[in-house]
Amino acid sequence: MSRCRVCSAAVHEFLDFGRQPLSSAFRSPGETEKEFRFRLAVGICGSCTMVQLLEEVPQGRRAHKGYPYHSSGSTVMHEHFERTARRFLSAELTAADPFFVEIGYNDGVVLDTVRDAGVRQLAFEPSGEGAGRVHCSFFDTASAQEVRTAEGPADIIYAANTLCDVADIATVLEGADILLAPDGVLVFEDPYFGEIIERTSFDQIYDEHFYYFTARSVRAMARRSGFDLVDVERLPVHGGQIRYSLARTGRRGPTAAVTELLAEEESRGLTEPETLNGFTATVATIRTELVELLRRLTREGHRVVGYGATAKSSTVLNYCGIGPDLVPLVCDSTPSKQGRLTPGTHIPVHPPQAFSDPYPDYALLFAWNHAEEVMAKEQAFREAGGRWILYVPDVHIV
Ligand code: SAM
Ligand code: TMP
Ligand code: ZN
Repeated sequence: MSRCRVCSAAVHEFLDFGRQPLSSAFRSPGETEKEFRFRLAVGICGSCTMVQLLEEVPQGRRAHKGYPYHSSGSTVMHEHFERTARRFLSAELTAADPFFVEIGYNDGVVLDTVRDAGVRQLAFEPSGEGAGRVHCSFFDTASAQEVRTAEGPADIIYAANTLCDVADIATVLEGADILLAPDGVLVFEDPYFGEIIERTSFDQIYDEHFYYFTARSVRAMARRSGFDLVDVERLPVHGGQIRYSLARTGRRGPTAAVTELLAEEESRGLTEPETLNGFTATVATIRTELVELLRRLTREGHRVVGYGATAKSSTVLNYCGIGPDLVPLVCDSTPSKQGRLTPGTHIPVHPPQAFSDPYPDYALLFAWNHAEEVMAKEQAFREAGGRWILYVPDVHIV
């Protein structure tokens, strides 16, 4: 039986995708080494309700070096991070000589904006990206203490798309307790489990996302470590996220948004077995319908190309068993993915120019979280008669 990584109670499995490769393990053509696989399965803690993977991929296997993840490569995300930094500057970083800390480097978008406003800033980033601007280590109690001694207390510790990756999340909260000023806040934004259920966005589930947060589970986790959940904010990015703010117990009261979201999660029955089992059943239906659609289109002689070799696409392709016979290539703007093969399913990744050379009949949109941006950019594809295939919240063609 699996134990909760937050509170040690039993975790009840509700979805098993089977043995999957690592979502960022793109291969070079001709590589023959056996791919590492692990069981991608999700469960919910019977006590604190934290949704989590049942099997953790060892840290050493999840090296980000070589396949850096750059959210802010997307224009929308770049603007989102700039806006985020400006919000912090006006709302939290207003005292004399404030100090801003980020966990997980972010192309420097947030750090640059904060620095340009004259605020001291630092990021913890173990991959070494952002050299010279970062503390090259994981954020934990030891590294938090080092920075606290050298720089003094932080007013904000911020993390985007990072804390949901950290199975040993208690060390992050302990580190925050060391580094944060008495009235400081730990702010983090990650995919929201409520949104995953709402949209059946099962492809948010992959090796790097260990936790799938809700307001309820985050509050329970915070309380175990001397913090409280004091604010939540819905973010439209990456298919629906929540930004959680944690403060030391008793220093700030929860906003109305916290009370409302907790009540909404309760009334939706978000963590009830019927909801979770319903999700699992819908995921299986999507698999059947997507594979049937791709087989039919291929049989009829249509050409289907994948758009965006996202980490999410690894779950879809491997769970559905979709290979080059159904989707002969995937286009992606990330140079380090181009010329390689998708993990497990070995579909060649081509640069974006291949998309229009010539346009396919259908494009399977794996980067659906950037749909608006992508579709606006690729208007000529539609004008040439092309159609998009989406599988979230259900299989449909637009
Ligand atoms: N914040 C960026 C964004 O939203 O685009 C990057 C997100 S990326 C998925 C996660 C980053 O956090 C990676 O660069 C990884 O190396 C880093 N990371 C993971 N665990 C960390 C930890 N415990 N402390 C500091 N950085 C960590
Ligand atoms: P993400 O969903 O994790 O942000 O990853 C997006 C992936 O999709 C990344 O590999 C880059 C790729 N992509 C494109 O190829 N073209 C685009 O226009 C966008 C927005 C993303
Ligand atoms: Zn638990």
